[in-house]
Amino acid sequence: MKISIIGAGYVGLVTGTCFSELGHEVVVVDINEEKVKAINSKKCPIYEPGLEEMLVRNVDSKRLRATTDIKDVVMNTDVTYIAVGTPMKEDRSIDLRYIEKASEDIGNVLKEKAGYHLVVVKSTVVPGTTENIVGATISKISGKKLGTEFGIAMNPEFLREGSAVEDFMKPDRIVIGANDEKARSILEEIYKKIDAPKLYVNIKTAEMIKYASNTFLATKISFINEIGNICKLLGINVFDVVKGMTLDHRISPYFLRAGIGFGGSCFPKDTNAIIALAKKLGYVPRLLDAVVEINETQPLRAVELLKKHISLKGKNIGVLGLAFKPNTDDVRETRAYPIIRALNEEGAVVYAYDPKAMDAFKKAYPDVKVIFCKSAEEVLKNAEAIIIATEWDEFEKLSYRNKIVVDGRYVKAAKETAKIYEGVCW
Ligand code: UDX
Ligand code: UDX
Repeated sequence: MKISIIGAGYVGLVTGTCFSELGHEVVVVDINEEKVKAINSKKCPIYEPGLEEMLVRNVDSKRLRATTDIKDVVMNTDVTYIAVGTPMKEDRSIDLRYIEKASEDIGNVLKEKAGYHLVVVKSTVVPGTTENIVGATISKISGKKLGTEFGIAMNPEFLREGSAVEDFMKPDRIVIGANDEKARSILEEIYKKIDAPKLYVNIKTAEMIKYASNTFLATKISFINEIGNICKLLGINVFDVVKGMTLDHRISPYFLRAGIGFGGSCFPKDTNAIIALAKKLGYVPRLLDAVVEINETQPLRAVELLKKHISLKGKNIGVLGLAFKPNTDDVRETRAYPIIRALNEEGAVVYAYDPKAMDAFKKAYPDVKVIFCKSAEEVLKNAEAIIIATEWDEFEKLSYRNKIVVDGRYVKAAKETAKIYEGVCW
């Protein structure tokens, strides 16, 4: 199958590269010329385990390339995936402007294209978007008839950064949202080689499955953080409590790691987007409101705990970990940011280190003052007290002797070696 993908971000690039690995002919389109050049010269623009090798292999075998020319690729492929970002607006609702722009661009090309073309939304979009914005815009601009001259579908992603390639190739499920047989059968063909349960639903349901999945996982995290906050007051280790809970076969053990909360490009934005949509429809989702609220206060608890042991003004404080989770250089919504902002406000001098995400952090958060260190050891050398914000493996190999450590992620080495140790929920 000839597939084009608009947007070569985390999702678009992983999806495109994996499709080419499955044998499809893939072109990824991006407005960012540097990204396009990097891909064509076989350099992966993001850090994602296993992706670069796969990209090199498929660019070499000419099954994968990148371009900025949307017209050429829509003309010469059978299916176009939309994988542009869907960020959060100031009012926390979903910003659909890139989706609208991609739909307009596709519509303009389809106006001149003969034959059927399928457009699949991969980006996370609130229910209704694929039909009411993507389908309607393309139909209006191209003058083509939906269902016969072009088709639409929604195929959400469930890729975790750091294991995105494996999540793509060996998924728990593939959700295919289509309202007609033709669109459905093309998606079936695209995923033919992947052995996984395939769920066929209508488009709106597919869109909602993504939100229900992500907000459920986010809810599990805020739930266990709340239980952890209570445990902390009682002198109980929440990780032992989770062990006891999850022996019950009805409670799955995943996504119950308590700590300083969830970050990343999906959970915070998706939870806020569905809350905003529900409120627009006249329903106040009190549980999801609480999930967000707990997540916003959780990182600040680390700073409060530290203040029990040391006054922060003028003190050198270390932050270990800046990525929103280990094994990625992504800092979107990282919990390290509110922690560092609070430390700055308290007048502390912040020393920080992350194995992969320091450049990204500098770029994304120029408003906070940080002295970036070349190693975790350098942070330990300079700082009197440490907050651990990301559980990178290498932080397990350090000795935290003579240090006050507030651990936001349950790093055992810190628990065992620190002079004074405080877990956020344990
Ligand atoms: C994705 C999904 O799109 C989002 O809906 C989902 O919830 C999370 O993952 P991601 O791949 O992480 O987003 O986004 P990002 O890394 O921002 O990539 C978007 C790419 O699209 C960028 O490379 C950007 O340059 C490109 N883009 C954006 C276009 O090519 N055209 C546009 O008009 C806008
Ligand atoms: C998530 C979803 O898992 C994926 O299915 C979706 O498509 C995109 O969003 P990702 O954001 O890459 O993936 O990371 P994930 O591993 O889910 O972690 C998200 C955040 O939650 C991280 O900040 C992580 O530290 C935190 N987390 C996760 C916890 O605090 N506790 C847990 O038990 C699990």
